[in-house]
Order: sequence, then structure tokens, then C-alpha cells
Amino acid sequence: MNKAENDDYLEKALSGIPENFSGKLLEVPVGTGILTMPVYQTMPEADITCLDYSADMMGQAQEKAEHLRLKNVTFRQGDVGALPYADDTFDIVLSLNGFHVFPDKEAAYRELFRVLRPGGTFCGCFYVKGEQKRTDWFVRHVYEKTGFFTPPYETAFSLKKRLGKLYAAVTLGTVKSMAWFVCRKGLR
Ligand SMILES: C[S@@+](CC[C@H](N)C(=O)[O-])C[C@H]1O[C@@H](n2cnc3c(N)ncnc32)[C@H](O)[C@@H]1O
Repeated sequence: MNKAENDDYLEKALSGIPENFSGKLLEVPVGTGILTMPVYQTMPEADITCLDYSADMMGQAQEKAEHLRLKNVTFRQGDVGALPYADDTFDIVLSLNGFHVFPDKEAAYRELFRVLRPGGTFCGCFYVKGEQKRTDWFVRHVYEKTGFFTPPYETAFSLKKRLGKLYAAVTLGTVKSMAWFVCRKGLR
């Protein structure tokens, strides 16, 4: 994928965050923070929580946040499948490149939905199979061995169906093998 395509799906995944957002946002998994720390620099009024399983990756994100003097971003090590937050805590839940990694994807969908408030937004992106034969081959034969990809994978179709069952409104598209989505949780 070239840079323009990368920027394209990221921009779409992040389009769920309104300009001048000042609510509570949860990002899982933050990884090294390479994609989002510069974005958080533009959101000084937001209350941002970043979570990841790996203390090492998250340490790198924390360093970036310190370097950028971000005062409104907190970090917590944890498992997406057992989030340490009450129901309906966040206005936005963001998940970039996580679901093709998470070992227990059912628990991850369930937990991210649980901690999002009614009317809130779940947005993000991850790899889906069935769009690019070459990428599918690499995922199966190369990337899985690195531990950064864990089956089973969604297709764009199965993901749309799954999100449609959970959320009141779903916008989803693909850029090559990356699906991006913006979903709104229904009001109770
Ligand atoms: C491919 S990285 C994506 C990181 C970041 N969002 C990005 O796009 O640069 C996947 C991340 O998922 C984290 N991860 C894997 N399993 C997890 C789990 N059960 N709970 C939370 N994070 C997890 C890994 O530690 C890793 O940092």
C-alpha cells in the first residue's frame, strides 16, 4: 500500500472524531502511539485514555506524549477483552489495527461496545481478508508467524454484518485490504 492509500484509510477511520472534540476518548490498542499522538496534539480539550497489552509498546507512546507535552492523555496497561472501565464511560472508542491482532475478538467487540456510551462513536480500521489475494497470502504465510496477525479474520461483508447487529448506524469502506469504519451506538 502506498502512502496516499495509507493516509486515506487512516483519515477515514479518524473521521469519527469531530473537530475540537472535548469529550472522553478511549484508544485500544495504542501501540507505540505513532499514528495518534500527533492527532491528540490537536485535541487539547479532550480527555484521552490509551490502553495496550504491551508495556513496551505503550512506553514508546508515553515517551511521544511527553515529548509533545500532552497533558490530557493517560496510559494504562490492560487487555481489550477485560477493560477496567464502567459501562458507558466513553464518548468515542478508537481502535486502529487491533482486531487482526487480538486473540479473543469476540471479547474485544463486546468490551469496546460496553464501555461506549449510548449515542457514542466506535471508529477505526483493521485488515480484512478477501480484498487482495497477495496480502491474504502474506498474512497467512508471513505475518501470522510474527504474532502480529491472529486469525480468524473478518471479510468486509462479515464485518459490516457484525457491526450492523451491534450499532445503530455503520459507515464502512475498504482501501485495499484495510477496512475502516465509523459506527454510532444506539440510544437506549
Ligand atoms: C499492530 S499494533 C497496532 C498499534 C497501533 N494502533 C498502530 O496502529 O500503530 C497491535 C497492538 O495490539 C496490542 N494488543 C494485542 N493484544 C491485545 C490485547 N488483548 N489487549 C490490548 N492490546 C493488545 C499489541 O500489544 C500491539 O501494540
